[in-house]
Amino acid sequence: MSRTGRELLLGVGGGIAAYKSADLVRRLQDHGYLVTVVPTPASLNFVGSATWEALTNRPVYTQVWESVHEVPHISLAQSTDYIVIAPATADLIARIAQGRADDLLTNVLLASSCPKMIVPSMHPNMWLDPATVANVATLRDRGFTVMNPEVGRLTGSDIGAGRFPESAAIIAVLTQLVAHNSDLIGKNIVVTAGGTREAIDPVRFIGNRSSGKQGYAIAQAALSRGANVRLISANCELAIPSGAHVTQVESTEQMQVALAEYFPSCDVLIMCAAVADARPKVLSENKIKKSDFDSIDLIANPDLLASLTHQKKPGQIMVGFAAETIDLKSNAQAKLKDKGLDLIFANDVSGGAVFGSDQTAGTLLFCDGPGIEILPTSKDTLAHELLNQVVHRLG
Ligand code: C5P
Repeated sequence: MSRTGRELLLGVGGGIAAYKSADLVRRLQDHGYLVTVVPTPASLNFVGSATWEALTNRPVYTQVWESVHEVPHISLAQSTDYIVIAPATADLIARIAQGRADDLLTNVLLASSCPKMIVPSMHPNMWLDPATVANVATLRDRGFTVMNPEVGRLTGSDIGAGRFPESAAIIAVLTQLVAHNSDLIGKNIVVTAGGTREAIDPVRFIGNRSSGKQGYAIAQAALSRGANVRLISANCELAIPSGAHVTQVESTEQMQVALAEYFPSCDVLIMCAAVADARPKVLSENKIKKSDFDSIDLIANPDLLASLTHQKKPGQIMVGFAAETIDLKSNAQAKLKDKGLDLIFANDVSGGAVFGSDQTAGTLLFCDGPGIEILPTSKDTLAHELLNQVVHRLG
């Protein structure tokens, strides 16, 4: 997020409706958005850069070869809060769906992680062509908000679905998108991810199969909705979500220290990490000889979540995860109660399922109502569903 949370990049495609986007720029500004326009080179045949520069009072670039020293595709991607592409032609939609990066706009799209909205406008035959239909479905699957064009008179004499919507209709959809993506602004969220490791000797440890993908997906989703995120990461080999504050830990004890620092001031704790239930009673200073390896005496680790319950302040939300192989719901229900949680996600990990995968499935259980079945879906989708529930409880 930018400092204002109102930075908006308007991508303009090469359709005749480009002239209508001049009005859209004005109306967006009326709504408080700080607009930067990135036209495709083809769109300059309809509306030139001078129009956009005059309307926005900002420089306008179309190619990555302009102002190269400023690396514009990355700086634009990082400084905008929302991207709206209006109008989007069939060709532009196809290029985005394919992940092409052949002009500045498509480069920025690939480099940015902010919410994106597309406003298509084209002849009805092009809109209804199976290639466009498939490309639009791909983009919706990837999380783009794609408006349906309006039905009516087109540039020629034809009538059908393809008209560019009025500015007010576009802004109404954008307002919904913004509301959904800023519902955690100002909230401090602590997410634990990965799996703790308990050292046996300088070489060996007791660990588990958690990859950290679900915790990182939650951190990313919370960032995209405006939260301040502290990610307590245990032994994950994943890229840190941009904007997250990270504390790297290895053992349960280190995770406990990090939680003691960050839990008191957080609004929400999402305890996604798989915490080792026990550690070796004695940590051997030297590597244990194979011949001396008869057995390892273990001592139970503290239950971090359960111990934090006593410090929980009114309004703080605590979320747990339960990986189960049998009696999924009853076991998770018991953990929800024993650990004093607001909600818990129970997933069936029998046969090693879920670990390391991009997909998940299970049940969301609540302290105050019936649960929700989560059919097989991406960990990103679960992250947002879980945050929807958190937002609901934060009031
Ligand atoms: O291991 P268990 O199934 O009890 O884990 C359920 C939840 O409790 C998870 O959210 C996990 O992060 C947390 N937990 C914990 N401290 C432990 C074990 C688990 O906070 N020692």
